[in-house]
Amino acid sequence: MNRSEGDINLTPGRAAWLAGHVGPETRALLDRDGAAFLHQALSTPCLNVVERAEGVWLTDAEGRRFMDFHGNSVHQVGWGHPRVIAAITQQMATLPFSPRRYANRVAIALAERLGALAPSRPQGGLTKVLFAPGGTSAIGMALKLARAATGRHKTVSMWDAFHGASLDAISVGGEAIFRRDAGPLLPGTEHVPPPALAARFFGEDGRAHERLADYIDYVLEVQGDVAAVVAEPVRWTTIEAPPADFWPRVRASCDRHGALLIFDEIPSGLGRTGTMFACEHSGCAPDMLVLGKGLGGGIIPIAALLARADLDVMGGGALGHYTHEKSPVGCAAAMATLDVIEQEELLPRSRALGAAAVARLSGIAHPAMRGARGLGLSLAVDVADETVADRLLYACLERGLSFKVGAGTVLVLCPPLTITESELDQALGIVEAAFASL
Ligand SMILES: Cc1ncc(COP(=O)(O)O)c(C=O)c1O
Repeated sequence: MNRSEGDINLTPGRAAWLAGHVGPETRALLDRDGAAFLHQALSTPCLNVVERAEGVWLTDAEGRRFMDFHGNSVHQVGWGHPRVIAAITQQMATLPFSPRRYANRVAIALAERLGALAPSRPQGGLTKVLFAPGGTSAIGMALKLARAATGRHKTVSMWDAFHGASLDAISVGGEAIFRRDAGPLLPGTEHVPPPALAARFFGEDGRAHERLADYIDYVLEVQGDVAAVVAEPVRWTTIEAPPADFWPRVRASCDRHGALLIFDEIPSGLGRTGTMFACEHSGCAPDMLVLGKGLGGGIIPIAALLARADLDVMGGGALGHYTHEKSPVGCAAAMATLDVIEQEELLPRSRALGAAAVARLSGIAHPAMRGARGLGLSLAVDVADETVADRLLYACLERGLSFKVGAGTVLVLCPPLTITESELDQALGIVEAAFASL
């Protein structure tokens, strides 16, 4: 069973698609890719070769166009948004890099802006910021800061979770495909069942999440030395948010037992769920928030750790120290991205378009359909089994729609928030046609 982050490359659907859709030039490029890159289950050997990305559209080496409802969750503002490109271009021409001992205007402005936007705790806002070149590194910084601030090293996180692919991130993560055969992981990384599977372990009577929250409270109490609970407020692999009272309960437990709450919003933040931050759906604020992916406008890699100001305790040590820490170009991309989200009113827009899309997807009458849900324009369709999901993926690709399959049986549909209504209509039509073709 594949409960992983995304669709793996060794399925029968992939083999059939390759056999039927790839011409000699693409085949040659894929062969070179396969020869040049280390192989991984979710990457090389690849499916296809991409030549252009623009708005919601990808164009492959054979000139076919696909709507990209996957985009590795970096394309909130679509591919190549002119405003992001202009900001980056201008920044590259003036200050392309910022050596570490210097401050720079755009990095200061971005840190201040994110700190002002982020949710607040009674102790104060998440106004202290550190940038990193990627989400995994930012998670690593959060883990280090939690240790330093609490004097404890243990964490509680969720089985099946993904927080990045490095050894520290897979230690708090829970996906077998990343952990299996990896050798000893970080000590003290305790795990609990994920909210999405609460009913399986804690009963089907509607009180499972309450019991899971009680269980987390018990773990924090009985251990007594946990530095942090690390979790995604909305599980991105399957677009699932627990019931409204779950996170406030966990929040209260963390406070009671001296643990910090770290929310990983690397894929889900910055408008993806119809609100600026995914934790706005959670009924509580974390002590640290990690952003990444779309922060760089789908072009520049940049991530951010936002922390309570009183957690700024590592002044004598090195917390991040990444070479591209205050990347002016990355920060310019992020400032432009935030401008686009605000000025194009992408939050209310994605809520409205998303609600209509969930209603339409829910109307698909097919025996393999198990239901649709969404938060903003992040949509999920549950299907009967992995074979059906694989067939639907390739049936949609054939019709010009690309998305990812999460946890084996969930079609995860995450378009740019800038998608036009007619493009969205076309994409939903493709999903309907794919079901009809089964
Ligand atoms: C929830 C979550 N956390 C962390 C990461 C890691 O981010 P990055 O790939 O930028 O290192 C990802 C990436 O997919 C993610 O989805």
